[in-house]
Amino acid sequence: MPKLTVWQNGIRHDKRFEGAPVLSRVLAEMGLSVPQPCGGRGRCGKCRVEARGAVSPPNALEEKAGGRLACQLVLLDNCEVTLPQSQEMAQIQLEGRGHAGALHPMAGRYGAAVDLGTTTLALKLYALSDGRNIASAARVNPQTAVAADVMGRIGAALQGELPRLERMALGALDSMVREACEKAHIPEGSVETLAITGNTTMLYLLRGLSPLALSRAPFEADHLFGEWAEILGRKAYLPPCMNAFVGADITCAALASGLAEKEETALLVDVGTNGEIALWKDGALHVASTAAGPAFEGAGIRMGLSSVPGAIDSVWLEDGRLKAHTIGDMPPKGVCGSGLIDAVAVLLDSGLIEETGRVEAERLRLAGEVYLYPADIRAVQLAKAAIAAGIRTLMHASGVKADDIHTLYIAGGFGSHLDIHSAARIGLIPRELTGKVSVIGNAALAGATELLLDTKKLTDVALIAASARHVPLGGNPWFNEAYMEEMLFPEEQQGAFRP
Ligand code: FES
Repeated sequence: MPKLTVWQNGIRHDKRFEGAPVLSRVLAEMGLSVPQPCGGRGRCGKCRVEARGAVSPPNALEEKAGGRLACQLVLLDNCEVTLPQSQEMAQIQLEGRGHAGALHPMAGRYGAAVDLGTTTLALKLYALSDGRNIASAARVNPQTAVAADVMGRIGAALQGELPRLERMALGALDSMVREACEKAHIPEGSVETLAITGNTTMLYLLRGLSPLALSRAPFEADHLFGEWAEILGRKAYLPPCMNAFVGADITCAALASGLAEKEETALLVDVGTNGEIALWKDGALHVASTAAGPAFEGAGIRMGLSSVPGAIDSVWLEDGRLKAHTIGDMPPKGVCGSGLIDAVAVLLDSGLIEETGRVEAERLRLAGEVYLYPADIRAVQLAKAAIAAGIRTLMHASGVKADDIHTLYIAGGFGSHLDIHSAARIGLIPRELTGKVSVIGNAALAGATELLLDTKKLTDVALIAASARHVPLGGNPWFNEAYMEEMLFPEEQQGAFRP
């Protein structure tokens, strides 16, 4: 059988293949991936690779893109491919704030903490004898080639793609362990333990469990983990999920934030395609999830980008003129989530966007040839309304007022770049909480790390999950009303602009 050799980040991966497969499909089965924003239709040019050896000649789409595309290139015989050092890879957040505890590690010489996100995967490798982080690895989740979001993947799994999705998760995990071991110069076999967090669907797919229960009313998971398993020949701990759509990632983020150790009332928000919200009060964690859509990740925005060089990541007014900063100080190519929120905040303050979201102009220039369009503003309204109404509903259900909240923890990569004042200006978070925000980064991974390094926390994480009280938002009249109200932007102006 012919062999494909893939180089990524200086690390070699080999795979035998049969027939004449498309490269992106083989990459996905190897647990490797390239971004595929156009879904492999050859239109976006984002899946570009370098190829040598027996591969198909460039087709018309590749000629137009000016390079080889993983979604078009066909493997014919022995060949070699180099994947670019992905910009997305550099942006995957590995750091998160945990709280240091005593070292009571899981068994073995080395272990890895892993966050299986819907879009990105992150792994940190530790020497268990002293708790040192010795290497890291990150990937775009190869399952994004099947579907971008959780519901799409559940649908695919139920239509016969479950074994493929499971193979993709295991393959990606295996390749990340390998990459981290090569970086740390240790044998792969010496990694004996894994602590793997992720949302409920990601853990279902990793274990090859049918997500049927997650796909239909009453949307109750028939498996909530909080258990040991054998994965890739290693002992792996899968932390407990709280329900079908509030997963182990939030249980771990809650652990890392330390909120359950305190008396004070606290709110934890992870702003993603699926916004997850948890409110800690009197020993109970009230939890909800809300479909915010991908606007804050730059998707569905006409000139939206993820956090890549050239993306506008902050916008402000200076001497009455709009100013913008781009990642890497590159010429502006588009706008990412934090820039989008800043832009809407500034344009609200300057009166160019009305409280209803209406704009007079056909488009609003942010910088260079980058514009914001009325449909983009509508997408921001929908996304922010889902999160803000979710927060309000949880506060209402648990009898909490903004003044009662001691800390608002913002978890996830997006939160780390967010300007809190802009977030409050557009009504994404309650204005009263701006002075109480604590940004905790990839807290899911930090929580998994705590479990890896301190097994006493297995009890803590179980208690957090057991304290969960789910507040359903679907069909909830209070949520529906709050959602309609939150579609409006706050009226009042902040006055001061951030330089
Ligand atoms: S995925 Fe868009 S061109 Fe290949």
